[in-house]
Amino acid sequence: MMQGVPQPAFYIFKCQQSAPPGMPKPSCVSQNDPESAQLFQHLAQSLMMKGIIGTVQPIQTGCLNRCQQGPVMLVEPGHTMYVELTKDKIDKIIDEHIIGGNVVNEYVIADEMWGEAIPPSQMAK
Ligand code: FES
Repeated sequence: MMQGVPQPAFYIFKCQQSAPPGMPKPSCVSQNDPESAQLFQHLAQSLMMKGIIGTVQPIQTGCLNRCQQGPVMLVEPGHTMYVELTKDKIDKIIDEHIIGGNVVNEYVIADEMWGEAIPPSQMAK
């Protein structure tokens, strides 16, 4: 069998949106929370130190529309939205979900904020 370039096992989309200073709107990277600005680097460094950075690809992204629950990140595949992140929570998600294969339910967004998706075929005009 031909051995091609392997696709990543996971993409992790970390919201890096920051609100301008003085904006009342919450954002995932906030000047009021210094740790929030370090989370992406922490994620990437942890993946590197564990030797899984290629097969797990961290992506910096803009707003994922769950700003009230920030800092957030989305793990694909699985469509798993993690909220209110800290460095410690990210470490646990890497160990238990990404390596261990078990979603860390206590850090997942509440069901009422993450209802079933509406199929685009139902909405398309
Ligand atoms: S700012 Fe991160 S979800 Fe909106």
